[in-house]
Amino acid sequence: MAVTYRFDNQQYAFQSGSYMLEKEIRRTHGPVLVVEDDPSMMIALRDILISAGYIVRTAANGQAALDVMAEERPSLILSDISMPVMDGIQLFGAVRKQPGGIGIPFIFLTARGTREDIVAGKSMGVDDYIAKPITSHELLAAVQSRLQRADEMMLVQLKSAYMASLRALANAIEARDPYTRDHVDRVNAYAQAMARELDWDEERREALEFGAILHDIGKIDVYESILQKTEPLKEDEWKVMRKHPVRGAKMIEDIPYLAPAIPMILYHHERWDGKGYPEGLAGEKIPEEARLLAVVDAFDAMTSHRPYRAAIDLDTAYELVIQEAGKQFDPRMVEVFKRCWERNELQTIANRNPNQS
Ligand SMILES: [Fe+2]
Repeated sequence: MAVTYRFDNQQYAFQSGSYMLEKEIRRTHGPVLVVEDDPSMMIALRDILISAGYIVRTAANGQAALDVMAEERPSLILSDISMPVMDGIQLFGAVRKQPGGIGIPFIFLTARGTREDIVAGKSMGVDDYIAKPITSHELLAAVQSRLQRADEMMLVQLKSAYMASLRALANAIEARDPYTRDHVDRVNAYAQAMARELDWDEERREALEFGAILHDIGKIDVYESILQKTEPLKEDEWKVMRKHPVRGAKMIEDIPYLAPAIPMILYHHERWDGKGYPEGLAGEKIPEEARLLAVVDAFDAMTSHRPYRAAIDLDTAYELVIQEAGKQFDPRMVEVFKRCWERNELQTIANRNPNQS
């Protein structure tokens, strides 16, 4: 998914967060480590892999392989079983005990008919064998599919680690305003309901999740005295408050993985009629994701207790959203919001809100 947005009078385009992460994972691939005591077999394996573009390290036995690994983490290990000093089964056990070793794909090369080796390996959890003699096609197919599977697992782990840190950061910022507890999680839940109704694909919904979680991240600069104020804000306080979209966008602009959230962070306070901030964009000039987020952000704010007022009940808040179609909100987004409401999806999410009326 290529997304474009305008910021500081420049046009930006970026790929989806997952795409950027996948690229980063591939960039950090280590070499393939070939462990084989037979020199001619070793040269054959190495040359096949090098001709396919892999970077290869070699070792003549398990102990030598561990020495190589101490210098550089391989992305995959291809190992013979019977070798002097330390055999392949022992090497496998040692690798799995190392920190991070569990994630390295490990393929055994076995001579046909060595059943007892296979039985010994299986008892240790080895499930990957290629039987010798092996064709270059078989070898490359096996290496490629194991690397791909390892990348996919790494991507899932990285993504969930990223999301956990983002949530922690967003919650830390919110925590200063006790009335907005769980705000980002509800905003995300409402937003995802609308995105499903709009039939957005998975990548777009992932970007929306970043946006929902990070939309107010720029409030890190807003004093608690302003966030927690019970009277209406003075003009100079509004000035500070209105800076949070630009501040938030600047905070993450150098993190390629999060770039898809920028249009939402930047434009979630724009209005369909052009009376919003920071740029006063109107209508379809406002990115679609930001138009969606504006609706659910406002709905959650209305239905939560705030320092300066009590929560508005759900039905009243719903009516207020409907009334703002074509004024504050994109009429099409309000239509989508209405369809989700009629299916009771939004009420179900709202009823989990502890600060609701
Ligand atoms: Fe905001």
